[in-house]
Amino acid sequence: MKSAIITGTGIYQIPGFEFEQKQIETPYGTAVVNIGHKDDFELVFLARHGLDHTTPPHMINFQANIKALQIVGIKHVVATYAVGSINREIPPMGLAVLSDFLDFTNSRPLSFYNGGKSGLAHTGMDAPYCPAMSREILKNAADYNLKLHPGAVYVTTNGPRFETPAEIRMYEKLGGDLVGMTGVPEVVLARELNMHFAAVAYSINWAAGLEEDMQFVGNKMDGIRQNLVALLVATLQKIETLDCKCEKAVMMMHEPHE
Ligand code: HPA
Repeated sequence: MKSAIITGTGIYQIPGFEFEQKQIETPYGTAVVNIGHKDDFELVFLARHGLDHTTPPHMINFQANIKALQIVGIKHVVATYAVGSINREIPPMGLAVLSDFLDFTNSRPLSFYNGGKSGLAHTGMDAPYCPAMSREILKNAADYNLKLHPGAVYVTTNGPRFETPAEIRMYEKLGGDLVGMTGVPEVVLARELNMHFAAVAYSINWAAGLEEDMQFVGNKMDGIRQNLVALLVATLQKIETLDCKCEKAVMMMHEPHE
């Protein structure tokens, strides 16, 4: 059994595994993944900003990262995102399982299916985050002392700048709960490759304009982040069959051709 974890700001280690770093060549560029084992479980760990946090959100090669996971045989992915809080019910230090997204990115490659040699497909986004894996994460959370808000909507902006107060007021009106810079196209590309993809976001600040200042929590969340990693890895290790439609999301219109 093998699965992957993609982490963002604040998580650069997965305790309990010794990782070997590998560079995976893909048609979209090189991706760096870390491969570790525990008994018969293989964990592929990808730090989307790099282990030294040198890749900003708008420079991440999402296509190479997700293709590399497919090349090493991954079908199940959990991801973590550091975000800002729009919804007052998920304040800084709060955590939420994602169920949907709003995409305000631009100029990012959004698909593996670009016609011709890569084929043409439309991919269902009626349940972008695997509902079955999300349920498992929610079910196990109390064992790791975590309270997770279910069903959050993640607004993806391009970054690297933060939002203006007017933008946040707009995202709030549109139903956004949390805002971050990396959720899309990561989940979209994973679904295009038939992966089960679930995600947990943790808030490190109020979104712009909601409070006098954004009140970044700094490393006060280290303990919570460690528990979150332990929860996600344990959940991945337990996955057997999943009652969901993730593997049927891709509607192929034209197979790849010259
Ligand atoms: N906006 C966008 N991305 C973020 C934020 C934010 O307030 N906090 C953490 N990532």
